[in-house]
Amino acid sequence: MSIDITSPIDTIKPASGPEVDPARVEEFVVKVATDLGTAHNSVLAYLGDRLGLWSALASHPGSTSAQLATRTGLAERYLREWLAAQAAAGYITYEPSTGAFTLPFEHALVLADPDSPVFMAAGFEVVAAVWSTVDHLAHGYATGEGIGWHEHDSRLFTGFERFFRPVYRGALVSEWLTSVPGLVAKLEAGIRVLDVGCGLGTATTLMAQSFPASTFVGVDYHDESVRRARIEANGSGVGDRVSFAVHDATSYAGDFDLICLFDTLHDLGDPVGALAYAREHLAEGGWLVAVEPNAGESLEENLHPLGLTWYASGHSLCVPNSLDQGGQALGAQAGPKRTLQAFADGGFPSAQLMTQTMLNMVIAAQSETTRS
Ligand SMILES: C[S@@+](CC[C@H](N)C(=O)[O-])C[C@H]1O[C@@H](n2cnc3c(N)ncnc32)[C@H](O)[C@@H]1O
Repeated sequence: MSIDITSPIDTIKPASGPEVDPARVEEFVVKVATDLGTAHNSVLAYLGDRLGLWSALASHPGSTSAQLATRTGLAERYLREWLAAQAAAGYITYEPSTGAFTLPFEHALVLADPDSPVFMAAGFEVVAAVWSTVDHLAHGYATGEGIGWHEHDSRLFTGFERFFRPVYRGALVSEWLTSVPGLVAKLEAGIRVLDVGCGLGTATTLMAQSFPASTFVGVDYHDESVRRARIEANGSGVGDRVSFAVHDATSYAGDFDLICLFDTLHDLGDPVGALAYAREHLAEGGWLVAVEPNAGESLEENLHPLGLTWYASGHSLCVPNSLDQGGQALGAQAGPKRTLQAFADGGFPSAQLMTQTMLNMVIAAQSETTRS
């Protein structure tokens, strides 16, 4: 796509610095125009998920807008525009000779099938929740105040859980827990596990399903998340071996053989305090495991699309939560060194980076007293 913008640009003379490069202006106009189209379409992609349009298209390839309206009972005029936008976005294909639209199977795995390992449509539900917080964020810029996880639109909790569940299913046992020496064997033998900042209990419940001999407790300061986590666990048939309670990362009781923090440590107001508190509740030979967003050690190493997603989502969710708890906010791209430093400051100088995947890194430490 090219845009003739030369004429007005030629007249612009920067007050100082190099001449304006019209080609560079044109290139960046195309980039921002594309980003604006993508941003507008995130609303439609969210509606596709919320209204079941992706699954309706997946089960009826080659649908016209009229046929989709009949099947869904939704207004044809909206559907016609929605379909046109998805075809322009490259999310679906369009056959001009028949006026029919198709969601390719490969795309359906990402947008329509929540059990698919690459399902991502719920990410748009999270974006919808973030937009509803934008005025609060603007206030935060002016005051430095944070926004607690509990203050967010409820679409954040459901969207987050649905977005990360496929990731957890694919990596929790096979990549993360397996990267810690001897841990899976202990879980199979039966140990006491605590999940701090458990949210809707995605990881807690998945671990309980994988390790029937072990017992699991999930704690979170957010009562609504804990309420939903109980429902999820009961619905997954492990309600008898998993319990959830409303606790802060520094207020739970009991001793555990494994304490986990999944995508939570960097959200906390006091990550070092939480690690030190966990140290007091780790049984001899116990493991403390934190799964965090993967990142390089420096900003320049994180200047790529995944870095953008982690920085932007961390900006609106993780940083405000930590600020709300009086913290400095590690941010979602803290990287191995800063996270290992938090472990060391929390009393685990020999914590290790166990593995790094495209999305995550696993940092773990064993209780010092009786290292086996
Ligand atoms: C990004 S979510 C991760 C949820 C869950 N671990 C998962 O992976 O699906 C962060 C969670 O940490 C919880 N949280 C934030 N600050 C906390 C604190 N100080 N104590 C306990 N939980 C906290 C939030 O309520 C939220 O559920």
